[in-house]
Amino acid sequence: MSPRSLVWRGIEAVTALLPDRVLRTLLRGWLDRVARREPPGAALRLLLDLEQDVYGRIDTTAIRYDEGVHAKHRLTGYHDFFVERIGPQERVLDVGCGIGALAHDIAERTGATVRGVDINGASIAFARSRFQHPRLELVEGDARDTLPSDRFDVVVLSNVLEHIEHRVEFLRGIVDAARPARLLVRVPMLRREWLVPLRRELGLPHFSDATHFIEYEPAELEAELRAVGFEPVELIVVWGELWATAVAALAPLAPPTPVPPVSPLASAPSAAP
Ligand SMILES: C[S@@+](CC[C@H](N)C(=O)[O-])C[C@H]1O[C@@H](n2cnc3c(N)ncnc32)[C@H](O)[C@@H]1O
Repeated sequence: MSPRSLVWRGIEAVTALLPDRVLRTLLRGWLDRVARREPPGAALRLLLDLEQDVYGRIDTTAIRYDEGVHAKHRLTGYHDFFVERIGPQERVLDVGCGIGALAHDIAERTGATVRGVDINGASIAFARSRFQHPRLELVEGDARDTLPSDRFDVVVLSNVLEHIEHRVEFLRGIVDAARPARLLVRVPMLRREWLVPLRRELGLPHFSDATHFIEYEPAELEAELRAVGFEPVELIVVWGELWATAVAALAPLAPPTPVPPVSPLASAPSAAP
């Protein structure tokens, strides 16, 4: 066992001896001391780090809470956005389908036929064990090269684009192969709360996930969709995310639209207190 694991074992053993109420009082006492530190920027840096520690544990526990499917699937209702925009008989390609919960819901509730593709073998294995459906096919593969040879009516990208570095190339590969009429897209927003610019100002990572290459301004998402010949016709801002419908433009592809410069975060409208 590594020295680090031994230390963790020791900490767990000690904390197991004390009741939660005592540990919480100790923790609050320490947090109060941290919050009073000078300069306040240093205090904020540590408090924001601690917030990330707590958030990470809330995230994994929220998956356990709903027995393997993150509680946000149920609580934010994002499946409904996709389900309500897909008709029976349609063929749907769910790119980056993860554990398959959304792909299964689409197949079950719309009557569509769904193919889910994900690069993560463990997620696809979970999806196959948990979410079987006669109109759902699950494929393990990198969507950059596991491209369909057949047509799809709709391509779903739910919290996937932000994980991709070269998004226009990624999208172009998919739309050229699948030739969909519509894209249904869900991405995180940059201006989701005031802590984002604060983290940035303090030199801390400000994305909600270390594997994100981008968190979006609406204009950035619109530009990426237009760059691959799709016109955004609907853009909903909810839960700090953008949910978009884009339709294949009838006109021939315009030259790629440059992504407009993003105004500085400092000029963002102030959040509610
Ligand atoms: C945040 S999860 C979203 C899962 C699911 N779409 C949902 O809404 O619950 C992002 C998913 O994209 C997948 N992914 C990232 N890059 C990919 C790629 N190049 N090809 C296929 N899947 C990819 C990841 O493995 C992960 O399951």
